[in-house]
Amino acid sequence: MALIGVFDSGVGGLSILDEALRQLPEHDYIYLADSINAPYGEKSSEWIASRSMELCKYLVAQGCDAILLACNTATAEAIAHIRHELNHIPIIGVEPGIKPAAMQSANGIVGVLATEATLKSDKFSALLATLPNCQFIKQAGAGLVPLIESGQANGEEALELLAEHLEPIQDAGADTLVLGCTHYPFLRKAIRKLLGDSINLIDTSEAVVRQLKRKLEAQGKHLDHGQYGSIKLISSKDAELLHQMAQELMQSDLNQHRIESQLVSSFR
Ligand code: DGL
Repeated sequence: MALIGVFDSGVGGLSILDEALRQLPEHDYIYLADSINAPYGEKSSEWIASRSMELCKYLVAQGCDAILLACNTATAEAIAHIRHELNHIPIIGVEPGIKPAAMQSANGIVGVLATEATLKSDKFSALLATLPNCQFIKQAGAGLVPLIESGQANGEEALELLAEHLEPIQDAGADTLVLGCTHYPFLRKAIRKLLGDSINLIDTSEAVVRQLKRKLEAQGKHLDHGQYGSIKLISSKDAELLHQMAQELMQSDLNQHRIESQLVSSFR
């Protein structure tokens, strides 16, 4: 069994934790939400890189055997540096799924909804350059993360803002939309309301967790006991709210796990 650290700027990474609990329920998890600082997507590269490093070091100090960087923005800005410094454990990141999107799109027009920092990053530009035959309509989802953080993913304001952000993607005739931020799977309902059922939504959480499973197997740490591990929910802002939002946003039956929530304001 392993202790897995899952880190995001806020509640977005719960979409990855949800998938991890589906595929790997027997492990123990620490979920760390830096909600006091969300959104990361509009902060500087330097800030994102140094804060992400600080939080990953904290997870290592808690005894984590692997870290899921459940944040596209932190992955884009910090994963190379984090892997370099914390090279004794697997660090698995999340990237906008533009490769599967390009493969699955019938008309070669793909919308990418992600944070401004992700879209502006060198890592994302390098990824785009590998797919010259597809047209990508990039759109920063400004303002969406704070609404999701405050429990308004299905509210009228989120729907209106999303409609504005999706307009250029819709106008270009995209048949596929990449959810390039781990918060956005929680907008699925609103996206379907606006774009209908025919658009293909790409979210990479399943592939990301499969990758974690392979890494744990390679280390002999994945033994399926058919049991349920524990989950510790840590927030830099409001641990009770994080617990409540996990219950609201996730599909997994959290009652099968031992859950503890904790407010941590200093991660040193
Ligand atoms: N959930 C994060 C991502 O996947 C970051 C959102 C934010 O804090 O801006 O990019």
